[in-house]
Amino acid sequence: MKAIVNTTYGSPDVLQFKDVEKPSPTDDEVLIKVLAASVNAADLHFLRADPFLIRFMSGLLKPKTTILGADIAGRVEAVGKNVTQFKPGDEVFGDISGCGWGGFAEYVCASEDALALKPTNLSFEEAAAVPMAAVTALQGMRNKGQIQPGQTVLINGASGGVGTFAVQIAKSFGAEVTGVSSTRNVDMARSIGADHVIDYTQADFTKNGKQYDLILAANGDRSISEYKRALAPKGTYVTSGGSGAQAFQAMIFGPGISMTGSKKMGNLLARPNKKDLTFLKELLEAGKVVPIIDRRYPLREVPEALRYLEEGHAKGKVVITIGTEQPGLASSGEERSRK
Ligand SMILES: NC(=O)c1ccc[n+]([C@@H]2O[C@H](COP(=O)([O-])OP(=O)(O)OC[C@H]3O[C@@H](n4cnc5c(N)ncnc54)[C@H](OP(=O)(O)O)[C@@H]3O)[C@@H](O)[C@H]2O)c1
Repeated sequence: MKAIVNTTYGSPDVLQFKDVEKPSPTDDEVLIKVLAASVNAADLHFLRADPFLIRFMSGLLKPKTTILGADIAGRVEAVGKNVTQFKPGDEVFGDISGCGWGGFAEYVCASEDALALKPTNLSFEEAAAVPMAAVTALQGMRNKGQIQPGQTVLINGASGGVGTFAVQIAKSFGAEVTGVSSTRNVDMARSIGADHVIDYTQADFTKNGKQYDLILAANGDRSISEYKRALAPKGTYVTSGGSGAQAFQAMIFGPGISMTGSKKMGNLLARPNKKDLTFLKELLEAGKVVPIIDRRYPLREVPEALRYLEEGHAKGKVVITIGTEQPGLASSGEERSRK
């Protein structure tokens, strides 16, 4: 089968498009014909071994995981004898970073616990856009942020992979949502349901006197004191991404601020799981959440896709199209009508 292989750490330049042996499932695994994948910052972190700490998980000198790709959608081709939840022919999607990665390939084996049935109304490309970014947005706002109907929620980085899901998920919880994006993404942020959009090139949300019940820092580079100023008394700030400094400050200062005052501030490290994927499947099938796809690349162009993602200005998700079986293909979230 064809795959994108990384035998050393480095930039997307080290990736090779080549033939490798097709995997076969163990008793507990599902073999999936991958029809689409999507790229995430996590692929870049593991490709570059950045931060360095990644080498302790993924190999000190060279990567143990030689095919990256966490988010996949495809069709089950075979199942191991202990697999109970799926059968050949099922259409599935999931984040397989917790069970060996390998999505940048024509076939991959994964644990059944990392997968859910693909939402029936989504193409494989749309489904592959969902798992890591949407689960991060969901866990950030529901688990860490304890989002409630009627709350005011601000999402910094509203136009990226995580942010576009966060805006829609927050709306589905009944929140009043403010998205922060640059000028070129203001209309898109509104189109996916943001009640207000702040163009960060024109206005500073930390200095306009407004305060929010929940802030999700999906991206950006603001100090924790700026976020604290924009947080309402008893409000919660969760950072799931953005600059290293932003994440570092939340990790170091967040616990102290949370313990000594009424505002809660901290980080999220999202954990992929079937329950959240199934929760999202329902929102997707109800039309409450629609994946926004910026660009599509064929498998051999994964390096280009990662370079584009690394520029930091993707508008929604960047998807990899694999194989030829793509029923219902090609309508991006922006093109689909929202319910
Ligand atoms: N904690 C976790 O478990 C977890 C899971 C997944 C992802 N992440 C992290 O979450 C972050 C976001 O991921 P992603 O997939 O959403 O990334 P992404 O799609 O690459 O984000 C790109 C978007 O960010 C916006 N952006 C860039 N600079 C900004 C700024 N200064 N202020 C506001 N928006 C800005 C861009 O909008 P403009 O072009 O309009 O600037 C663009 O639409 C990454 O740092 C990633 O590592 C963490």
